[in-house]
Amino acid sequence: MKGAQAGDFYRDFDLTWGGQRAKISEGGQFLTLSLDKYSGSGFQSKNEYLFGRIDMQLKLVPGNSAGTVTTYYLSSQGPTHDEIDFEFLGNLSGNPYIVHTNVFTEGKGNREQQFYLWFDPTKAFHAYSILWNPQRILFLVDNVPIREFVNRESMGVPFPNKQAMRIYSSLWNADDWATMGGRVKTDWNQAPFTASYRNFNANACAWSAGKSSCASTTSTSSTNSGSNTWQTQALDASGRQRLEWVQKNFMIYNYCTDLKRFPQGLPPECKN
Ligand SMILES: *[C@@H]1O[C@H](CO)[C@@H](O)[C@H](O)[C@H]1NC(C)=O
Repeated sequence: MKGAQAGDFYRDFDLTWGGQRAKISEGGQFLTLSLDKYSGSGFQSKNEYLFGRIDMQLKLVPGNSAGTVTTYYLSSQGPTHDEIDFEFLGNLSGNPYIVHTNVFTEGKGNREQQFYLWFDPTKAFHAYSILWNPQRILFLVDNVPIREFVNRESMGVPFPNKQAMRIYSSLWNADDWATMGGRVKTDWNQAPFTASYRNFNANACAWSAGKSSCASTTSTSSTNSGSNTWQTQALDASGRQRLEWVQKNFMIYNYCTDLKRFPQGLPPECKN
């Protein structure tokens, strides 16, 4: 397995979109994306992963970020792709960002949960993590679990465990829907809009040529080092308490309680 390695944006990512609007600096330790009238920008990981714990610190677009969306997600490719999404929907100065999350399996999403944050995500860097193992997916903010998606294959719910995924991130204009349902438009006088990234860490199983970087280590070493506890990690009592605290105080949308949207009955994974 690839151990916990300090990230290097040059080594680990390709700038894929937006030309000079995506920039790596400080010897690979820092990355910025920007958005102007003409284009947004984005990057993607060189590696594909099948399971892992992915950490990134982000500082979101400050000030009037209405209409902008910063994405940070894992995705495989093709029409039946899997995807694990964080999207940060900007807002007018002083109004709260929305953290939008979703899980796609075999090309189907429709599993949105949205949250406000308990801090201003534009003032400082905060850690946004995805823990993805065969049993569950956890979305974490500063190590606080905000969402858990449990493997319910036993109930016929597909779980992303067959397709390797890349890490993607982008900053783009989505003022047709992002802020207050699309009523507030991007103010281009504020451009360029900039989001910053640092402290990337993938404690993950890289997937290449049909092989996982984790398989060999599991067979050669019988002891679990601290760094791969993510492979079997579940929420303990305090994690579950913190998840409940977030869901009670900061969750603003949950597909699992949206009876209007699912008149035939809620999706099976919602009936825990
Ligand atoms: C923006 O602020 C308004 C007013 O506080 C709020 O209703 C909305 O959820 C916020 N976020 C977005 C992305 O619209």
